[in-house]
Amino acid sequence: MRFTFAKTQIMELINPLVQQYAEAFSTPEDDLLREINLFTSKNHSEYQMLSGHLQGKLLEMVSQMIQPRRILEIGTFTGYSALCLAKGLVSGGQLHTIELREVDAAIAQGFFNHSSFSDRIILHTGNALNIVAGLNETWDLVFIDADKGSYIEYFKLVLPKVRQNGFILADNIFFHGQVLADDVKGKNALAIKGFNVFIRERNDIDKMILTLRDGLYLVRKL
Ligand SMILES: C[S@@+](CC[C@H](N)C(=O)[O-])C[C@H]1O[C@@H](n2cnc3c(N)ncnc32)[C@H](O)[C@@H]1O
Repeated sequence: MRFTFAKTQIMELINPLVQQYAEAFSTPEDDLLREINLFTSKNHSEYQMLSGHLQGKLLEMVSQMIQPRRILEIGTFTGYSALCLAKGLVSGGQLHTIELREVDAAIAQGFFNHSSFSDRIILHTGNALNIVAGLNETWDLVFIDADKGSYIEYFKLVLPKVRQNGFILADNIFFHGQVLADDVKGKNALAIKGFNVFIRERNDIDKMILTLRDGLYLVRKL
């Protein structure tokens, strides 16, 4: 499949005016999410990894629609998306989230402690490739947002544990637009390109790409 586009279109997937308009007409972030967003922008060199207002709201809305009992998030960062996803949990529900880096995990835990979900978010620190297999749960909703080279592995690990009609969301599936190039370069862009083909070719799932921010694959287990 070939895609034709100008080089200038690679990095700017979403028109900034459209982005601003959509944010202005969406429910604002709550105080804690705004605090995490601001803290991360001021203190973290990889701020761009944070889901942010619109994507966070989408995650919350999806979770509110599903009303999950068990959510798995792979890639906590500073805790923003976990707190969005947790908003849809049913009473007695839990969200497990996994972060490799201890510093980020500690920041996220601090924010979780200040939320109303402190007893419902379980943060695991370590490599998700080792931790996911040990979690004996049936997932209603999974959010994959960690190292791009492991997306296929994460998908294979979690799919058997997702309930029928459960959902998986995977982030950054345009990889800043790089997967659209004729000649995809770079380890992560190639990994995402491979993941996208892997998902497209499967017929045991229902799938669509959401063109929000850096793109999300939305998958339903059949
Ligand atoms: C894109 S960020 C997550 C952003 C977060 N979900 C949000 O929206 O605010 C990816 C995170 O995955 C973590 N990560 C990378 N490789 C990992 C691994 N093998 N296991 C667990 N976490 C990993 C990184 O340290 C980073 O904090």
